[in-house]
Amino acid sequence: MHGRPRVAVLIPAAGMGTRLGEAQPKAFVEVGGVTLLERSVAAARESGVVDEIVVAVPESLADSAHRLVPDARIVVGGAQRSDSVRAALAASDAALILVHDAARALTPPSLFADVVAELCDGAPAVVPGTPVADTLKRVDSTSGVVDTVDRDMLRAIQTPQGFAADVLRAAHAGSGDATDDAGLVEAAGVAVKVIPGDAMAFKVTTPFDLRLARLLA
Ligand code: CTP
Ligand code: MG
Repeated sequence: MHGRPRVAVLIPAAGMGTRLGEAQPKAFVEVGGVTLLERSVAAARESGVVDEIVVAVPESLADSAHRLVPDARIVVGGAQRSDSVRAALAASDAALILVHDAARALTPPSLFADVVAELCDGAPAVVPGTPVADTLKRVDSTSGVVDTVDRDMLRAIQTPQGFAADVLRAAHAGSGDATDDAGLVEAAGVAVKVIPGDAMAFKVTTPFDLRLARLLA
């Protein structure tokens, strides 16, 4: 593509899905006959803003992944999510990098485009986020309420998260783990911008989430 830097999407899909409790690792669970992995790769492709897709999977499922998503590069993931992201990062030299959970399989393609647009405007780190609906309370170790948190200033953060490649590489240079990549980038002192997320970008984590995904698909 012309007029903009090369964009890669890294898709960590090497988790076991312990909380979901299905027989196979979560990315290989089907929703409407299509695996979460295939759905996530398709959404990235359909965005029209992605040049390259790298997927990190459990070693035993690398051959399956090749068959399911033949247009993606497949790497073997690691024990922690960050290890899987680092493995995928090593396989790409794109200037702009998006990291997207395979488990957020119903994410609309437009969200990828929104993130890339912000990166092209010069933001070094961009994450989608949504306002929090529930009242949030801080508790102590015995579940006693300490206080009620002002949710107006809180956002629930999703993926795809986008970064200038050098920023993400620097953040992942250590061996740190974080549930999201922006957490590592923040810790490195880089400004992270939140853009409006999308309810459909929810993460399939629990059996309830899988029921929801099957109803929505
Ligand atoms: N992931 C990964 N490598 C790991 C752990 C997680 O690539 N070692 C990926 C998962 O496949 C998923 C995403 O990171 O697409 C978000 O992680 P999470 O929802 O926690 O998935 P799992 O780790 O598989 O689930 P659980 O924590 O319930 O075991
Ligand atoms: Mg996990």
